[in-house]
Amino acid sequence: MRSTTVFTFLSLVSASLAGTYNRRLRTVGEGFYEDFTFEAIPDPTHGRVNYVNRETAERFNLTFGGGETFILRSDHDTPLDPAGPGRSSVRLKSVMQYVNHVAVFDIRHMPEGCGTWPAVWEVGDNWPHGGEIDILEGVNDKGPNAVTLHTNEGCMMHRDRQGQRTDSVVVEENCDVAAKGNVGCPTRLGDAKSYGTPFNANGGGHYAVERSPQFIKVWFWPRGDPALPEDAAKGAKVVNTDAWGEPAAFFPANSCNIDEKFGPQNIIINLTFCGDWAGSVFNQDGCLGDCIAHVNGNPSAFQNAFFDFASISTYLP
Ligand SMILES: *[C@@H]1O[C@H](CO)[C@@H](O)[C@H](O)[C@H]1NC(C)=O
Ligand SMILES: *[C@@H]1O[C@H](CO)[C@@H](O)[C@H](O)[C@H]1NC(C)=O
Repeated sequence: MRSTTVFTFLSLVSASLAGTYNRRLRTVGEGFYEDFTFEAIPDPTHGRVNYVNRETAERFNLTFGGGETFILRSDHDTPLDPAGPGRSSVRLKSVMQYVNHVAVFDIRHMPEGCGTWPAVWEVGDNWPHGGEIDILEGVNDKGPNAVTLHTNEGCMMHRDRQGQRTDSVVVEENCDVAAKGNVGCPTRLGDAKSYGTPFNANGGGHYAVERSPQFIKVWFWPRGDPALPEDAAKGAKVVNTDAWGEPAAFFPANSCNIDEKFGPQNIIINLTFCGDWAGSVFNQDGCLGDCIAHVNGNPSAFQNAFFDFASISTYLP
């Protein structure tokens, strides 16, 4: 009798601790310069972009950290020489790497417009071997957001006919970058406010990711959503994801060994133009003309191609 009681008590304790994480960093305003580094590298996805270093970004106000705001934008004044470098923009990489963790992104505005390809994502070393988790990503202002995993060989997700991920195999998806032209394992969110112009018109919102050995989950709460948990809203010192409700995207470890397919990862924030994805579906997405010519010749079309981050909070188990 007594041992049953003890056992029940212990299992309750461990269940209630499963989703509990302690804050590691809370990045706000100028703090982005401390917690992220600038990657002035050539775009591996062949975008019409010129990633600049911190000095150049600050000189041209492509990044701006002050008070409760961190802005990351592209140049929106300069017509480009078609034979010269691409549109100046910024790619940030977190100083810290994360294995099991939670990250909460409070975003007021994201880049919008034809030709834009913005992303908030996590990636391991030696891609694709350390895995990739795309939290917020899209092209040409076309929503809703798709949350996507990319891995090396041997990571599968399953869907039923309604498109929900499930344990019962009906349709199999292969997250391997070598399969199906690297579409990975995407989950398209249901909410139009999760991306682009509708996201911005609503004042943005909160994205959160949780990675554990059992699953990867991503939540989205549009600005003003009463379902936004208080701990996520205020970047509390401790968060409990067990109380966050159904995630918008759920990737169970059933047929994907998350510990093996996902190494230590950096958070990356980048904004590129055209390239392998945005360029190839430019007209299909309803944008007119040629993507590269648009980026070169219409700087003012990129006035709204900026991120405004209120904060990023990261948590460890
Ligand atoms: C920008 O982000 C996307 C995110 O998935 C990635 O595929 C692409 O390689 C990135 N481009 C650069 C130059 O960082
Ligand atoms: C730089 O950008 C910020 C944010 O948009 C703005 O508030 C500030 O006035 C800009 N500074 C200059 C010198 O243009």
